[in-house]
Amino acid sequence: MELNIEIHLSAYSRINEVNFNDLGFGRYFTDHLLIATYKEKAWQTAKIIPFQDLSIHPALSALHYGQSIFEGMKAFKYTDGSAVLFRPEKNWQRINTSARRLCMPEIPEDLFIEGLKLFVDIERNWIPSGQGEALYLRPLLFATDSFLGVRPSEEYLFLVIASPVGKYYSQPIRVLAQKQYVRAVRGGVGAAKTAGNYAASLLAVQEAKKKGYDQILWLDAIQLSFVEESSTMNLFFVIDDAIYTAPASPDGTILMGVTRDSAITLLKKWGYEVYEKPLNIQDIIQAYHKGTFQEAFGTGTAASITPLAAIGFDDQEIMPIANTGYGPISQRLYETLTGIQRGTIADELNWLVRVPEYIPFT
Ligand code: COI
Repeated sequence: MELNIEIHLSAYSRINEVNFNDLGFGRYFTDHLLIATYKEKAWQTAKIIPFQDLSIHPALSALHYGQSIFEGMKAFKYTDGSAVLFRPEKNWQRINTSARRLCMPEIPEDLFIEGLKLFVDIERNWIPSGQGEALYLRPLLFATDSFLGVRPSEEYLFLVIASPVGKYYSQPIRVLAQKQYVRAVRGGVGAAKTAGNYAASLLAVQEAKKKGYDQILWLDAIQLSFVEESSTMNLFFVIDDAIYTAPASPDGTILMGVTRDSAITLLKKWGYEVYEKPLNIQDIIQAYHKGTFQEAFGTGTAASITPLAAIGFDDQEIMPIANTGYGPISQRLYETLTGIQRGTIADELNWLVRVPEYIPFT
């Protein structure tokens, strides 16, 4: 390992405070965090230190002007008891795509990949092993200048924190497509995994919940017609045995999901027709009336593969044929993806990265 990293281990562990029978999502945090500062145009030595609060300047530029980006990743407990990461290089590439869009410094591969491996090794006792469980990893990069002028910050913090988690959604979700709010426009920051995109989604989701839905199905911002994604997952629609998902690119309007890419790769390998192209919501409605709207599901790191139970739009509600659980395609995807991640299905595509045991535990 080339990375120069200082390690300061915590004197005690909080692991006994965790209810591993009811993890939920994002409630518990492990004993350490990884931290690296960027200043004078260079990354300084990274450290793994006991988990702790940060002290912030009231003029912290991330708080005022939103230069804040993050990633979502998972470490899994493999069948042989070791820890594995799922396609971490994809998250490294994506955080740097987000960084370029938000005028932030890119994170070197060593710092991101080797830092994560070492961090996960130190926290390996925290990786839960139940069905649907994992150690969720949250890399975060934000601007730390204490200055009120609007310009790219000169100093940044890169952090990785970790949380043992269960399923993000424990049942199929109901999504609402509406025309009042939009998430992203072409040329904007929709493809960046930046904090503001999540803030922008909250009001629409809150209002959707009042109407009995769990999430928004975002429509394109120009014609308010083409299905994009939800705030927590990319979306797929199965119509007449063909599979549709919105197109993703660095200057586009949807997040370039790692689980999205993995799902597309598996589906194509299995011989399905997969179309990454704009799909009009009216085409889904028409398919519903013809009886050819077979399945809809979301893909995401937190959400894994989550079926959609119903789509609300214009005072009507449509449902895929598989609306009470997984359909045949989402079921196969869920089982294959989680099987690869846990080692019960061969990793033919070389998606897993083993976490070596660097630190011997006594
Ligand atoms: C993830 O799937 O990792 C995300 O960042 C989505 C977030 C809603 C938890």
